[in-house]
Amino acid sequence: MTHDLIVIGAGPGGYVAAIRAAQLGLNTAIIEKESALGGTCLRVGCIPSKALLESSEKYHEAKEELHRHGVDVSGVALNLPTMLSRKDQVVTALTRGIDSLMKKNKITRYIGHGSLSGGGKVHVDDGKEKKELTAKYILVATGSKSAPLRGVNVDGVQIGTSTEALSYSEVPKRLAVIGAGVIGLELGSVWKRLGSNVTVFEYLDRILPGMDSEVAAEAQKILTKQGFEFRLKSKVTSAKINAAGACVVECEGAEPFVCDKVLLAVGRIPNTEKLNLEPVGILLDKRGRFPVNNHFESAVKGIYAIGDVIVGPMLAHKAEEEGVACVEGIVTGYGHVNYDAIPGVVYTNPEIASVGKTEDELKEAKIEYKKGVFPFLANGRARAINSTDGRVKMLADAKTDRILGVHIIGPHAGDLIAECANAIEFGASSEDIARACHAHPTLAEAVKEAAYAVSNRAIHF
Ligand code: NAI
Repeated sequence: MTHDLIVIGAGPGGYVAAIRAAQLGLNTAIIEKESALGGTCLRVGCIPSKALLESSEKYHEAKEELHRHGVDVSGVALNLPTMLSRKDQVVTALTRGIDSLMKKNKITRYIGHGSLSGGGKVHVDDGKEKKELTAKYILVATGSKSAPLRGVNVDGVQIGTSTEALSYSEVPKRLAVIGAGVIGLELGSVWKRLGSNVTVFEYLDRILPGMDSEVAAEAQKILTKQGFEFRLKSKVTSAKINAAGACVVECEGAEPFVCDKVLLAVGRIPNTEKLNLEPVGILLDKRGRFPVNNHFESAVKGIYAIGDVIVGPMLAHKAEEEGVACVEGIVTGYGHVNYDAIPGVVYTNPEIASVGKTEDELKEAKIEYKKGVFPFLANGRARAINSTDGRVKMLADAKTDRILGVHIIGPHAGDLIAECANAIEFGASSEDIARACHAHPTLAEAVKEAAYAVSNRAIHF
């Protein structure tokens, strides 16, 4: 079969690119080895974790928070099988939705493992049948997988990754999380709320590496208050099952830690195995990523790559933007991603969200900036919903007032950050946000107030 474009991998990067290509008139095919479309994000990542975060938060609220609102409930009990099956239903509905989108856009779907054969050819193998396809353009969007850690024997039952932590059949009494990154804190939060004692081992002296350090320190304080135990500067060297069937986590210079389950969350690595890259002329960088140019084209003409297999944050929405820019570049000659305006969200409670430069990055680059901070404690809506932990921090250029970064920890931070990403995209100043009317009473007023605070004129603080 011959197509204009073949996309390998149907995650958010790949399937969005395929839809955009079809909209632009390309005869498009997509190859996916899993029976469900949507990639890690829909099947075993963003979506199921958010379903469980929501359910576990409701359980926690019913048990610990509702009485503060004058709602007395008794006999609150966890039905874990129902919680897990609701999560599965959410995933099934969404992955089927992607199937319909493929059909609606007349995208040909091949089930199997795709690999490059050179000369515009792609090989598909579903274990029974092999097919050879041809295309003018090939886009690799094969995503990433959990990074292994030497000494940690992942058995997929007691010692596992985020995939297993989405489906524990019972609440572990003691859960050890290796890595205080996004996955460790989100899935740690799920099981903490459901009753686990959660201990997080982190190699660095801080949590959430890469995020604004002030916001990360506040997150650590809030999560500790919720019952998380953080062991910082703890380099895990091994995790094994002992003779009694318990997990034992060992760190340099510390007593072994015994627990029921271990969640390994020390990062993700690009999925590039068995793509037959070297024979077709593609050499990966030291971290296993595709080197690509500004148009996402690899060293081989006509072969493109986007998302987790190239440089940049491993985020679904970053991959989507790249997918659209890549195919628009192919068809129209122009496609662009503004990497300064890609938000990042951690779905803990409260949520943590950021866009643009961190204060640490501005200091390091010796860029002069002004800073405005507004606490949710002083926001009427946050008080009304009883969610006053956290703050909005806005960073603007000292001379031009252009917004350089916004970092939020607080209720619905993941939604509030959208305004800030738009502001950066449009080159807005803090004055622009401060002067824009924000509805009252909303959490978004905290963003406006932080913008006011950049020039020391917050109204309510
Ligand atoms: P991460 O890179 O965010 O954090 C991994 C942590 O493990 C780091 O803090 C690192 O210092 C630590 N670590 C490494 N080796 C260690 C050792 N031997 N002992 C103790 N600690 C060690 O990785 P994570 O959380 O696995 O997430 C992977 C990717 O998935 C990230 O790129 C993230 O952006 C993405 N993701 C994004 C989500 C979101 O946007 N909400 C949700 C889940 C994942």
